[in-house]
Amino acid sequence: MPSIAHDPEHRLWVLSGPGSSYVLHLDDAHRLRGLHWGPRLTLDQAVSLLNYPAPGRRSFEDPADGTLDLDTAGAMRYAHAGVQVRFPDGVRDLEPRLIDHAREDGELVLLFADRHYPLTIETHYRLRTGTDVLERHLVLRHTGGAADGPITVVRADSATWVLPRLRDYRLSQVRGQWSAETRLARTALPYGETVTTSRQGTTGHQYNPWVMIDDGHSTEEHGPVWSCALGWSGGWKLTAQRLPTERVTVSAGFGHDPITRELVPGEELVTPVCSGAYTEGGFGAASRLWHRYVRDHVLTHPDELRPVLYNSWEATGYDIDVTGQIELAEKAAALGVELFVMDDGWFGARTHDAAGLGDWAPNPERFPDGLTPLVDRVHDLGMGFGLWVEPEMVNPDSDLYRAHPDWVLHHPHRRRTEHRNQLVLNLARPDVAAWLHGRLDELVTKNAVDFLKWDMNRPFTEAGWPDAEGDPDRLWTDHVHALYTLLDRLRADHPDLRIESCSSGGGRLDLGILARTDQVWASDNTDAVDRVKIQHGFSQLYPAGVMGAWVTDSPNPYTGRSVPLDFRFHVAMTGVLGIGGDLNHWADGELARAAELVAAYKAVRHLVQLGEQYRLTGPGETTAVQYLASDGQETVVIALRHARHFGHRDPALPLRALDPAVRYRDTATGSVHHGAVLLTHGLPLDLDADDHASTLVHLVREPA
Ligand code: DGJ
Repeated sequence: MPSIAHDPEHRLWVLSGPGSSYVLHLDDAHRLRGLHWGPRLTLDQAVSLLNYPAPGRRSFEDPADGTLDLDTAGAMRYAHAGVQVRFPDGVRDLEPRLIDHAREDGELVLLFADRHYPLTIETHYRLRTGTDVLERHLVLRHTGGAADGPITVVRADSATWVLPRLRDYRLSQVRGQWSAETRLARTALPYGETVTTSRQGTTGHQYNPWVMIDDGHSTEEHGPVWSCALGWSGGWKLTAQRLPTERVTVSAGFGHDPITRELVPGEELVTPVCSGAYTEGGFGAASRLWHRYVRDHVLTHPDELRPVLYNSWEATGYDIDVTGQIELAEKAAALGVELFVMDDGWFGARTHDAAGLGDWAPNPERFPDGLTPLVDRVHDLGMGFGLWVEPEMVNPDSDLYRAHPDWVLHHPHRRRTEHRNQLVLNLARPDVAAWLHGRLDELVTKNAVDFLKWDMNRPFTEAGWPDAEGDPDRLWTDHVHALYTLLDRLRADHPDLRIESCSSGGGRLDLGILARTDQVWASDNTDAVDRVKIQHGFSQLYPAGVMGAWVTDSPNPYTGRSVPLDFRFHVAMTGVLGIGGDLNHWADGELARAAELVAAYKAVRHLVQLGEQYRLTGPGETTAVQYLASDGQETVVIALRHARHFGHRDPALPLRALDPAVRYRDTATGSVHHGAVLLTHGLPLDLDADDHASTLVHLVREPA
C-alpha cells in the first residue's frame, strides 16, 4: 500500500511507494521544497534530512532555485518557474502560503493562497497501489469577485520534479519526425534550460512528453533512473534545467510559449497529470515500471489481448470499393486475422486527399448499399470490423466546410493554411463537438463498428476563434478536453468499441490518449529495419501491448528496402501484430508462411502484450527482446540480426529473469535448456547467414 506520512512539527510529508519515497518540506518562508526523491525513507529518516546545512547565501540569486517543488515566480528566483501568472494590475510575483492540507485515499493535497491576490494553488500528489509512479497535478483557482478582473496564467506546469545532487546528469528522451518517430537520444544534460515542446496542438512527432535522467553511468540493467511523463495530447512544454549550482529540476505541463490562459473570477484551471518515478535497475527496470503503470492505472482494458488486425491503407490507398475490400478481408481471414480495418477513402467524395473529409457517410458509388455488405461479410468471416476516421478535420472541398466555414480554427485577416488539403475543426466550440459526437455515434451504431482508427493528420495553424466568448486562446486546451470527452462518451455508450490513436503515425502518443484508446499506430514507416529503432524508443515508456505494428510489402513502399517476410513479421510481433501489405500480390508461399507466423504470434502474444519486457540487446546489429509471463512460467525471445560479419556465428543470447534452478523447453524444437545456463551462457541462436535474419523462441518451464 502506498503511504503518506506527515510530521506537522517539521512540516514534512513523505510519500512512499513500494521502493521509493518523495519528500516535501515547507520551509519558514512557506516555500515547498522537494527534499528527497529516491530510495524509500521512513518519516524519521526523512526528518534527519533537515539537519543537512542549507545552501549558502548567494548575492545574485535565491539558493532555493532548483530545489522547489511548487516553483512559483517571484522575488530573487531567476530560474525557470513552473507557475507564472500576471495579475490584472501587472504584478507577476507570487507569494503563496500554505493554508490547508489533506491526506485521503493515497492522495495528498496542499492548498496555497497568495498573500494578497485572489489566487489559490492546490498541489496534488497521488500514489496508486503497487507502483512507485507518483501522479501530480495543480489546480489554480481565481477566488476573487467580478471586480477583480481576470488573472493571466502564463505557465502552470503540472509538476516540478527536484532531482537529488548527482555526480553528473544525463538526459534520455525520444525525438523524431513523421515516419521516424520515437528514436531514443541519450545525451549529457547541458547547463541551462533544455526545452522540449509541442506547439502543434497535439502531442507531436518531434518529441514525446517524457524524460529520464541518470548520473551518466546507469545502463539497461543497472543504476538509478529518475523519469517523468505528461499525460496530455495537446501542446506541451517540458523544461529540464541544470543550474550552475548543479541543482536539476524537470518541470512539465500543458501549454507552450507564447500561449497564455485567462482565469476569470470563480474559474479554476486543472492541469493534466504529470507522473514521475524513481527506479533502480537501469533503464530496463524503469521501462518495466512504466509499462506496468500503464497497464494497471492508465489503460481501460489492460488485460485484453489485442487482435491481429489487417489494415487496407498500404494495399489500396484511396482506391477503395466494396468488392475490393471484401476480397482483401477474405484473404486476411485466411491468414488468421481477427480484425479487418478499412482505412481512408470510404466516405463522401474522398477519392483522394483533397476532398470529402468531414462528410462521414459512405461514398454511394463505392458502397451503393452502404457499409453493411462489407461489415456483414467481415463479421461472417469471424473478424471484427474497424473503420478509419479523422474526426477533427475537414477538407475545404466538402459539404461540411461549405455549410460551416466558420467551424475551423481561423483568424479573420489571415490565410487559412492548408496542410494535406485540410483544416482543423474547432472542437472547443460546443456546437462543433456536439455535431461530431452525433456523426460518430451514428456511424458506430449503424455499421456495427468494433474498432475506430482515429487519425489526426495535421497540426494547428492560425489557431483563432474570432467569436469566442472570453479568451480565444482557451481553444488550445479546450480542443483536447473536447476530444477526451468525445472519446469518453463514445466508449461509455459503446462499451465493446476499441480505438486506435493515430496522428500520421505516432504523432499522438502519450499517457492522456492512452487513458482513452487501446493502442497507438506507432509510425507510418513500416520498413522493418527502421521500425526496430522506432519501436526501441517507443518501448522506453510505453508497453508492447499498445504498440501497433504492421507487416507490409517488400520492397517497402516508403523506403524501397527489401526485407525477408520472417524478419518483417518478427519485428511486428514485438508489438501488436497487424498486416498491412497488399495481399493480392503476395505469392502463395508467402501467404502460407504468413499464416504460420500469425499462428505463432497468437501462441505468444499474451507474453508480448501482457508480459514483462526485457530489452536484451540493441538496437544495433542485433536487437533482441524477451517477454516474460508474470508468473514466470514461460518466456518468448525475438531476435533480429541485420548482417553477419566475417562469417562469425551469432553469439548466444543471455536471457533475463529466469529461474536458474529450473529447465525450460523450446516449444518448437523440444530442446531443453537449464535456466542457469540461459542466464549466463545464453540462448544459442541459429540464424541464417543472410542479412535480416530473425527468430522467435518460446520457452516454457519444465515441471520439476
Ligand atoms: C495517416 C495514417 O498514419 C495512415 O496509416 C493512414 O491512415 C493515412 N493517414 C490515411 O489518410
